[in-house]
Amino acid sequence: MMTLPFAPPPDHLAELYAPLEQSGSWVTGHLGQSLDGRIATLSGASCYVTAAENLDHLHRMRALADAIVVGAGTVEHDNPRLTVRRVEGPNPLRVILDPNGRLEASHGVFTDGLAETLLVSGVSDHAVSTACAQTVFLPKASGARHFRPADVITLLHERDLRRLFIEGGGITVSRFLQTDCLDRLHICIAPVIIGEGIRGIDLPGCEHMDQALRPPTRHYEMGADVLFDLDLRS
Ligand SMILES: NC(=O)c1ccc[n+]([C@@H]2O[C@H](COP(=O)([O-])OP(=O)(O)OC[C@H]3O[C@@H](n4cnc5c(N)ncnc54)[C@H](OP(=O)(O)O)[C@@H]3O)[C@@H](O)[C@H]2O)c1
Repeated sequence: MMTLPFAPPPDHLAELYAPLEQSGSWVTGHLGQSLDGRIATLSGASCYVTAAENLDHLHRMRALADAIVVGAGTVEHDNPRLTVRRVEGPNPLRVILDPNGRLEASHGVFTDGLAETLLVSGVSDHAVSTACAQTVFLPKASGARHFRPADVITLLHERDLRRLFIEGGGITVSRFLQTDCLDRLHICIAPVIIGEGIRGIDLPGCEHMDQALRPPTRHYEMGADVLFDLDLRS
């Protein structure tokens, strides 16, 4: 069991962190979404879908993780820092998935020096090398434009990174979910309706409701938002 690096969370959230604290190896996804299943507006604005309590939770998750994984779309739209600021705790490695070499070296995660960054590139001559960032080449799934999430996990395990927080966006979390590469999924729902926008979870459909994914779930109030914690391994 690890000691929590941050001050004890509110009592009603203690159970939320217990399985993550107790296991040395996990892959947990997170999305903050609207009632209509959007994680951002059509233009990509996602600050902020959910409220302060969920942002605190995100930073606790970062502090618990060895690595945060995000897709190229999130870096392109948000230019995020992906550091731990709202709670105590170490900054994890920032891992950026860029299978088709679309990211410029000027993004903050490659230049700000606030934490280390690993760019996972699917293009052998697309690399970023700065004081805080290095690149590793990962071949894409055969005939596809994307990585196999299992290959991403193996690559990180080989570097002894075992607590993995998949922080977005919708495409990235959906790929990990679709390929059974998540142990847990946190979906925080805010009482807001965005309308047309960037989708959260997007999987191939099923015909009957008994084929739908309905894992054991607990839910936790986070201010006016509700976070659903899906246990995908029970
Ligand atoms: N509300 C939230 O919780 C939240 C969290 C994060 C981000 N966001 C918002 O979400 C938006 C971005 O999300 P998004 O769904 O459009 O994009 P995304 O998931 O951030 O990035 C998707 C791209 O990353 C690459 N990628 C991801 N997983 C991959 C895999 N397994 N293999 C290979 N490549 C992979 C691909 O790049 P290529 O297309 O180049 O192949 C893919 O198109 C932004 O507007 C951001 O603000 C919201």
